[in-house]
Amino acid sequence: MLTIVLVSLFLYAWWRLFSKEVSNIPGPLCLPFLGCPLWLKSKRGFLDWLTQPSVVKNPISFIQIGPTLKYYIINDFKIMKELFSKEAFSHRSAADFQLQHRFVTVNKPDGILLTNGDQWSHQRRFALKTLKDFGFGKQSLESTINTEIDEIITKYSLHQGDIKIGSDFNIPVISILWKIVSGSRITMDSTESVRMVELVNEIFTKGNFHLKVLPYSFLKHFPNITGYKNRAEILEEHKAFMLKIIDEHEETFEAGQLKDFIDVYLDQMQSDNSGKYSKGDLSASMIDFFHAGTETTSTTLKWVLLYLALNQNDQEACRREINEVLGETRPEVAHMSSLPYTVATITEIQRLSSVAPISLDHETTETFNYREFTFPKGAVFIANLRHIMTDPKHFHDPLKFNPKRFLDAKGTYVKNERVIPFGIGKRFCMGELLARNELFLFTVNLIQQLRIQPSDNHPLPNPENYCANATRIPDDFYVKFTAVR
Ligand code: HEM
Repeated sequence: MLTIVLVSLFLYAWWRLFSKEVSNIPGPLCLPFLGCPLWLKSKRGFLDWLTQPSVVKNPISFIQIGPTLKYYIINDFKIMKELFSKEAFSHRSAADFQLQHRFVTVNKPDGILLTNGDQWSHQRRFALKTLKDFGFGKQSLESTINTEIDEIITKYSLHQGDIKIGSDFNIPVISILWKIVSGSRITMDSTESVRMVELVNEIFTKGNFHLKVLPYSFLKHFPNITGYKNRAEILEEHKAFMLKIIDEHEETFEAGQLKDFIDVYLDQMQSDNSGKYSKGDLSASMIDFFHAGTETTSTTLKWVLLYLALNQNDQEACRREINEVLGETRPEVAHMSSLPYTVATITEIQRLSSVAPISLDHETTETFNYREFTFPKGAVFIANLRHIMTDPKHFHDPLKFNPKRFLDAKGTYVKNERVIPFGIGKRFCMGELLARNELFLFTVNLIQQLRIQPSDNHPLPNPENYCANATRIPDDFYVKFTAVR
């Protein structure tokens, strides 16, 4: 016993003395090999540890999870804005389990989310331009969005009594994106596509921290108990699904008849011999859209129903505004500037729900001196979006639902730069424009047509009941809908 204590003390002293990160950056107590035990206390998912006072009290905190996973958590908006605008803070690495199973060529990251440098900027720029040509942020996409809205509103209107809200928005939301990417909707009748969407939900509810904490050799030896086998199978299934859709497009491809994102990409592959465009990049980008674009927007819509059910006065204020401005006219994105209370309500829901509670990883490409700190090359930074958006220093009564905080005395919407659900800097969310338009159109249509009320027979939805792994997902809850007109 004494030997164990002495060895532990020696290791701890050695680690404090020689580990650059811990000697330099403040943060909660970390132990050698185990890391900061506070994450073990997380009740509602792995990311709960982020709200612990010992993490958020410093502008940047150093935290270690398990023997190897080291993070610098940025809790300060100005620091995030400054550092994430730099190339040197915008690198990203794929974890071993992703390198093995996410890409067409093992150990060669492709696509957007997990690439860097020229490859990343080519893929991101090309994808954004093409998605915009097919309607991202354009009126032409509104009819596609409206098709999905009408379907879900009809479903809710026909339902008598209480209805359980679960992953209701996953299919409608991915269907909109999939129409642009592959030319087809995803509906409940297509068993294979629905399974693919369910697998995304599984990835997000389980998160991937545990797969990053444990060494890859350990994952491979214990694939079942670590969850590695399950995640590897999901990634392989998603990859095969994307490659099959690409093959089908290749068979029917006609230059001059480019119907969707995949066709445009295949056309670019034929006309550009520089090697910048490949099937590997195309399939990985499709997985990126599928993973990043499904759960985030649909979970935000789940929070929209939750907060509207809990805040009847704000819901009524939105409805009055919508009635005055639109009457029974179909809402369009162009109406956004005429509906300040509704936009403020959506902003408040995005702030409080913090669906992406943290940014993705941002790695340094070189040793970097900043203020009194020296960050080594390869240091991994995460912005604490949840804390930044609920920081009591900048938001009065931060956990109170109050859309009026975004309105001035005349009722005009005032943007607050600290509300950053999509991140900021070089790697901010690529789907922001689409997501904002979808959130606006779904919310306005829902309020215009349905009164969303708490159930009489089930407990009130509770915003404190959520699971925080890759995203903050509220537990399923019950509401009742009644037609407004
Ligand atoms: C409400 C919905 C959404 C939220 C809250 C959200 C949030 C975020 C956040 C926080 C990041 C990381 C930013 C960083 O690390 O600095 C991100 C990245 C990303 N998002 Fe979204 N997102 C949403 C919807 C979408 C949609 C619809 C798409 C579909 C195209 C998408 C595609 C991406 C991609 C590809 C990245 C990686 C960008 C890169 O590495 O360059 N997101 N998103």
